[in-house]
Amino acid sequence: MYLLCFIFTLICTFLSTNSTLVNKNLTKQELEDLEMTAMEECRIKFNIDEKIIDDYFNESTTLPVTQDFKCMLTCQDERLGYVNNQVINWDLMRVAQNIYYQDYDNVEKYVEVVDNCEKNGITENEDTCDISFQITECFRKQYIEQGLEW
Ligand SMILES: *[C@@H]1O[C@H](CO)[C@@H](O)[C@H](O)[C@H]1NC(C)=O
Ligand SMILES: *[C@@H]1O[C@H](CO)[C@@H](O)[C@H](O)[C@H]1NC(C)=O
Repeated sequence: MYLLCFIFTLICTFLSTNSTLVNKNLTKQELEDLEMTAMEECRIKFNIDEKIIDDYFNESTTLPVTQDFKCMLTCQDERLGYVNNQVINWDLMRVAQNIYYQDYDNVEKYVEVVDNCEKNGITENEDTCDISFQITECFRKQYIEQGLEW
């Protein structure tokens, strides 16, 4: 029985990991749902208070900097395919920006945010949860500076 459960868990993990990857054929709604589902699963996994998530989306508040929060962001990026084994998939982020902001007049500004963060680079770090925190910091800073909708 124990073995059966173990195998079943592996299969489920495999299926859910695969079905949550972002790809260019998604609609905006599907992308939003994927991102929200991944965030909620990772929020629960790292026991992050919902208040912290509100702060994260609130541009008047500084980004929360706890280790659990950083790991939640990395967990989310890994589930969506933006980060894999500490390698960042910038192209996939551009794909996502194009889907998400397709009906915005300034969609190219949202794509440029990705270009700029790629150019600035992410500092290699022993802390494997830090990678997505750096990406998020870079994105958020630019959104706010350029008056984009965070
Ligand atoms: C996207 O759709 C095209 C055309 O329907 C298909 O050939 C391709 O495999 C799809 N790509 C992904 C990543 O699902
Ligand atoms: C965002 O943060 C500011 C400053 O902490 C706070 O006054 C405001 O109520 C927050 N907005 C939301 C929607 O939570």
